[in-house]
Amino acid sequence: MTKKLVIANWKMNPASGKEAETLFTDVENGLTLLKKTEVIICVPFLYLNILKSANRQTKKIILGAQNVFYEEKGAFTGEISPLMLDNLGIKYVILGHSERRALGETNLDINKKIKSALSFGLIPIVCVGDKERDENHEYFNFVKIQVEECLNGVKKDLLGKIIIAYEPVWALSTTEGRKDATPVDSREMVIFIRKILTDKFGVNTKLPRIIYGGSVNEKNALEFLTNGGVEGVLVGGASLNPEKFLEIISIAEKI
Ligand code: PGA
Repeated sequence: MTKKLVIANWKMNPASGKEAETLFTDVENGLTLLKKTEVIICVPFLYLNILKSANRQTKKIILGAQNVFYEEKGAFTGEISPLMLDNLGIKYVILGHSERRALGETNLDINKKIKSALSFGLIPIVCVGDKERDENHEYFNFVKIQVEECLNGVKKDLLGKIIIAYEPVWALSTTEGRKDATPVDSREMVIFIRKILTDKFGVNTKLPRIIYGGSVNEKNALEFLTNGGVEGVLVGGASLNPEKFLEIISIAEKI
């Protein structure tokens, strides 16, 4: 049985290492033995090392990063390389989040990052998602282009290592004038993404696991996990609240 994924994206929070430790420890202390769920918390680079040492004792939570550069080393001021993450023992990394795309990251950049991350044995959590829904369903095409361009040239046998997070930008908790996405919205897109992937890589390919993200909380997690066609959730805002995040994990564990 593959485990359900509950992935936290802390984004640029909290404000200090001390607060990061408190938040992390609160989640860790609230966890019982997990049999059916894998919990990954993606934190700012700065906190990986701090939390790594706390994490070593229990291994209940896996740490992840929120970005990585594609080059291994050299004159790239301000960047963090996949080799550095690998040397730190970090396995998961979010790539192509819509907030990074909004800052100018392109499908081509993300594609290079995915291939580089995979070559270091990292597991990319690749975010794709439509910015808006239009009557002509152009948004399907938008996601298709993201999936195809981001995964271009990825080796077929590495495809199964990837996690794809479908995150409709219009449903994120921080999007102005946001709307709720439904599990049906999620399920439709998951089927569509699987179709794109089999068309591109062939039918006998182990496909990425697909998860949903966009205002997931303790009230809607059950619906998304049971009817959204996904194998997990990516949680932003609600992951900064230990009670809410623990509730989402316990929902996933009970399914
Ligand atoms: P949200 O964020 O849960 O706050 O909508 C999810 C994300 O951006 O990854």
